[in-house]
Amino acid sequence: MSSLVTTIGELTFNSPLMNASGAFNPEAFARCFPLAESMGALVMKTLTPESSKGNAQQRTVALPALGMLNSIGLQGKGIAQGLESELPAWSNHGVPVVFSLSASSVEAFEQAVVQIFQHRNASVIQALELNLSCPNVHAGGSSFGSSPDWVNTVVSAVKAVCPVPLWVKLTPNVTSVLPIAEQALLAGADGLVAINTVLGSHIDVRRKKASLSRVSGGYSGVGMKPIALHHVLQLAQAFPQTPIIGVGGIQSATDVIEFLMAGCSAVQIGTQAFRNPWVFPSVTKGLQAFMKAEGLENLQPIIGCAVPKI
Ligand SMILES: Cc1cc2nc3c(=O)[nH]c(=O)nc-3n(C[C@H](O)[C@H](O)[C@H](O)COP(=O)(O)O)c2cc1C
Repeated sequence: MSSLVTTIGELTFNSPLMNASGAFNPEAFARCFPLAESMGALVMKTLTPESSKGNAQQRTVALPALGMLNSIGLQGKGIAQGLESELPAWSNHGVPVVFSLSASSVEAFEQAVVQIFQHRNASVIQALELNLSCPNVHAGGSSFGSSPDWVNTVVSAVKAVCPVPLWVKLTPNVTSVLPIAEQALLAGADGLVAINTVLGSHIDVRRKKASLSRVSGGYSGVGMKPIALHHVLQLAQAFPQTPIIGVGGIQSATDVIEFLMAGCSAVQIGTQAFRNPWVFPSVTKGLQAFMKAEGLENLQPIIGCAVPKI
C-alpha cells in the first residue's frame, strides 16, 4: 500500500489529514472510526488564557449546499482547565496533538505559552498553532492577524518561549496574506496554516435583520475552497521552503490532492466533518486509490507540483 506519511518541518505524520480547530470532538469521532487509521494529527479547539462563554446567540447559520457561518467566538474553559481536563482526552487516541492558542495581548500570548509548557500534561503536545484572529486589546480591537507588525511581535514573543514547532494560522480577511506570512516567518514560524474563515453575513428575511447577533461571522465550507487554494498557491510560490497546512472547504480526496498539488504538506477538514464524520476514512481511501492509479509510493512527487514557477 502507498504511504501517506508527510513531514512538516521536523515533524513526521502518518497522514496529511487533520481536523480544523473548533470543528471536531475527538470522543464523538472516535465512536465512528479509529482516529489513528485516518488522521495524522488532532488540532484542539482554540483555547484562550481565561474561560469565555463566547458570543451571544444567534451565532451559527447553516447555508445549505454552501457551508455555514459562525460567530461562536473563542468559547472555552480557558487554558488551565483545558490542560487539566481536555488535553488528556485529545491525547488518548494514538494521534499527535496540536494545541491551538489565542490571546488578546502579546504579554498574554507569551505567558500562556509558558503556562502551557510548564504543565505536566504538556509533553503530548507536538506543535502549537497560533490563532491570531482574536482582537488585539492594544490595537483598538482589530485582530493581530491583520497587521504584519503585530504578527511579527507576537510570533517573536511566542517563539522565544515555545519548545515545540510553531504554526501560524492566517486570516484571509486582509488585502494580501504575503506581508503577514513574511513577518510570521521572519519571527520564527515553522509552518503556516491557511486559512481561517472568510468574513460573511446572512439576513433573516422574516425578522428583517442580520441572522447573527454580531451581524458578521466566519464563513466556512465548500464555497471557500477556491479562496483557500488561492492563498495557498500564493504562499507556496513566495515561500517555497515553508511547510503549509491547507484548510478551507475540503470535502473529498480530490480536494485534498488539489491542496497538496498547490503546495500543502498537510490539510485540515472542518465544516464537512460536521456533515459527515466519516470524511476522514473516506478521504484516506480516496487518496490511496489515487496513488495506486498514479503509481505513487508516497505523496512527495505531488506536493507543490502545481505551483507556478516564478
Ligand atoms: C464552528 C466552527 C468553529 C471554529 N473554531 C475555530 C477555532 O476555535 N480556532 C480556529 O483557529 N479556527 C476555528 N474555526 C475555523 C476552522 O478551523 C477552519 O479554518 C475553517 O472552518 C475553514 O475550514 P472548513 O471550510 O473545512 O471548515 C472554526 C470553524 C467553525 C465552522
